[in-house]
Amino acid sequence: MATKNPSYTHMRSQNVTDYPNNNTFFLVWNFKENITPSKIQAVFQRVCALVINLNNSALDRFPNSRASCVMGIGYEAWIKLELPKPLPKELKKFEEIRGIKHTAVSTPGDLHFHIRADEKSYAYDVANIISDLMKDIAQCHVEVQGFRYWDSRSILGFVDGTENPHGQDREYFALIDEVDPSYRGGSYLFVQKYIHNLDAWKELSIKEQENVIGRSKEQDIEMDDQTKPANSHSALANIGDDLKIVRDNMPFGSVTSNEMGTYFICYASTFTTVEKMLTNMFVGNPPGNYDRILDFSTTVTGTLFFAPSIDMLDSFSA
Ligand code: HEM
Repeated sequence: MATKNPSYTHMRSQNVTDYPNNNTFFLVWNFKENITPSKIQAVFQRVCALVINLNNSALDRFPNSRASCVMGIGYEAWIKLELPKPLPKELKKFEEIRGIKHTAVSTPGDLHFHIRADEKSYAYDVANIISDLMKDIAQCHVEVQGFRYWDSRSILGFVDGTENPHGQDREYFALIDEVDPSYRGGSYLFVQKYIHNLDAWKELSIKEQENVIGRSKEQDIEMDDQTKPANSHSALANIGDDLKIVRDNMPFGSVTSNEMGTYFICYASTFTTVEKMLTNMFVGNPPGNYDRILDFSTTVTGTLFFAPSIDMLDSFSA
C-alpha cells in the first residue's frame, strides 16, 4: 500500500495513555476471506482517516468527555495491508502460553478499536460509525461493552489499576522511543477477554479473596511481602519497578446468564514486558506456582496489536 511520507519531527501518539473512562467499547475485526486486498486497503485508508477525524471531533464537540478511539493493527493485517517494513520490532502473532493448569489462548485479530467516553451514547455512536465502514470488508469477532464499576473495581470487587504508572511514567512505559525510531510514539496493545467463575469466587471468604489478589478488598491496600502469598496476582504480575505497562481493564457481562468478565487491555513500549507478566501468571514463578486469579478467570481471547502514532495513521489514511 502506498503511504504518504510522514514528518516524524513532532510525533503525536494516539490516546493510549488516557485514564480509564466510564464506558468503553472494545471491537476486534477480522478481514473477510473473499475480499480483494485492494478493496481492504481502500477501506483501511478511510478507517485511518475516520479515527483521526473522530478523535478531533470529540475534542471539539465534547471537550470534557475524555472521549477517544485508539486503533490497533494485528501482525497478519500489517502484512496483508502492505504496511511499512521492517515491521515494529515486536509485532508478531501472539503465541499461546500454556501452564500446567491454565492457558493464555491466542486468537486472530486484524484491527482493534478501543473506544472510551464518559457517556455511553458517544461510545456507541463511534462504534457504530466505525462498524458501518468496516462491515463491508471484515467481521467483528469480539464486541465487549465495558463499564466502570464503582470506584474502578473489577467485577471481582477489587480496585483495578492502582499500581499503574501515573503522570509522565505512563508515556515512558507505554510509548516506543528511539529503541525503534521508525515507530516512535507507537505502542504495543495486548488484549484478553476473561470470563470469571463468580459462583466459585463468591464462595471464598473476603480474607481468601484478598490472598488471591494480594491486596485488601475495601481499602485497596497492598499486603506486605511477608503476608502476600507467592501465588497472589500482585506477587506474580509485579515483575519489577522498571517493567511496567499501562492497563485499562473494564468489567462487562450479563448478570442473568452469570457470564461476567474482565476485558484486559494494556499498552506497552515493549511486548516482552507483557509476555513476562503472562508467563509468570500462567506458567508460574517458579513454574507451577501460577496465579491463583486464573482459578476464577478463563481467557477466551488473546491478541497482540500495534497502535501506531497519529502521524503514522495519517500517513496510512486517504
Ligand atoms: C482476570 C483478569 C485480571 C484482573 C481481574 C486483574 C485485576 C487486578 C487487580 C485487582 C490488581 C490490583 C490493583 C492494581 O494495581 O491494579 C491488579 C494488578 C496488576 N495486574 Fe492484573 N488483572 C487481570 C489480569 C492481568 C494480566 C493478564 C496482567 C498482565 C499481563 C496483569 C497485570 C497486572 C499488574 C502489572 C498489576 C500491578 C501489580 C503490582 O505492581 O502490584 N493483570 N490486577
